[in-house]
Amino acid sequence: MRILLTGGAGYVGTHTALGLDAAGHDVIILDDLSNSCAAAVSRVESIIGKPVSFYHGDCRDTDLVRSVFVHENPDAVIHLAGLKAVGESVAQPLRYYDVNINATLSLLTVMGEADVHKLIFSSSATVYGEPEALPLTEENRVGVGISNPYGWTKFMIERILMDLADTDPAWQICLLRYFNPVGAHESGLIGEDPQGIPNNLMPFVAQAAAGRRAKVLVFGNDYDTVDGTGERDYIHVMDLGRGHVQAVDHLTPGVSVYNLGTGQPTSVLEVIRAFEQVCGTTIPFEITSRRPGDVAVSYCSPAKAEQELGWIAERTILDACKDSWKWQSMNPDGYPR
Ligand code: NAD
Ligand code: UFG
Repeated sequence: MRILLTGGAGYVGTHTALGLDAAGHDVIILDDLSNSCAAAVSRVESIIGKPVSFYHGDCRDTDLVRSVFVHENPDAVIHLAGLKAVGESVAQPLRYYDVNINATLSLLTVMGEADVHKLIFSSSATVYGEPEALPLTEENRVGVGISNPYGWTKFMIERILMDLADTDPAWQICLLRYFNPVGAHESGLIGEDPQGIPNNLMPFVAQAAAGRRAKVLVFGNDYDTVDGTGERDYIHVMDLGRGHVQAVDHLTPGVSVYNLGTGQPTSVLEVIRAFEQVCGTTIPFEITSRRPGDVAVSYCSPAKAEQELGWIAERTILDACKDSWKWQSMNPDGYPR
């Protein structure tokens, strides 16, 4: 199939592009490079050994999206484009609602016009808000306890897609609720490239291991968890990318929903210890207060994805730390910009 990846120059998008290529699909990338760079696309091309069609532009620009559809004639779309920083979304709610919602509406308009009805959407564990039960299954309630505008955009887009599918049985939509993507491609050529101080744990730990950050601040050690620190379901980004490939292959009419995670909770201190094992140095850390809006524990049951998509996470947290460390060591300042 010819598959359009919106946001395909980003962290999840570049790794998903590799999975799609390996499965024999043609990849087209549309990205405004607001949180990525052209070098990421070049690195994807060098790993797969051929050029990728790349369009630099904003999904909210409906005429531009139309022209991409005219030139490329995609069979399906994987919609990853959007803003994702939780704290920034609290400070800039209108920007987050504008970019995330309007990019999706623009894309859906053009897909409808072009008679392209196959869509995979990057949703997030954040839609579960305060977990109703653990492990989280796709049947658990969503929307209670979402603590930031970023999370609400994911919740709202899921709703929009369900309403759209109700209007026309031609739509085949899959919502993938990612847990915590970590790691990098084993080559060390592509990886997570946060600008400024990383918000997320794994890139922060990687930079602390490299000496770019003095210490990791651990946000709370008084949760009801194995060691008091927050527990998450860290999913290797290569496994996540493969999840998209399997989702595309199994699209069915209407809306389907899958958790993509390992099903295993790992604490902050366990992540730090795993990283120390692969980098061979001690990573300094300091316990500080809880981060507002954090839940204590979040991990999923990935059973539905296994049963219906034949997908299961194959890599461990140690694999993710090893690949993250390779990316960090080979690219201490991220991509050349
Ligand atoms: P990322 O920022 O690395 O990638 C997103 C890409 O979208 C970037 O390359 C950015 O330049 C591009 N983009 C942003 N707005 C755009 C627009 N209007 N038009 C075109 N391109 C635009 O983030 P990521 O980690 O790769 O996440 C990809 C998707 O997965 C996002 O939708 C994110 O919300 C979702 N997600 C990510 C995580 C995570 O922890 N990484 C977890 C759950 C869900
Ligand atoms: N943490 C620290 N120190 C840090 C960063 C994080 O102790 O410097 C802790 C957090 O408190 C949490 C764990 O490490 O317990 C993971 O935090 P991340 O920021 O890496 O990930 P979150 O689970 O908080 O956030 C992720 C995605 C969001 C999404 C959210 C809810 O990054 O996009 O899951 O699904 F909204």
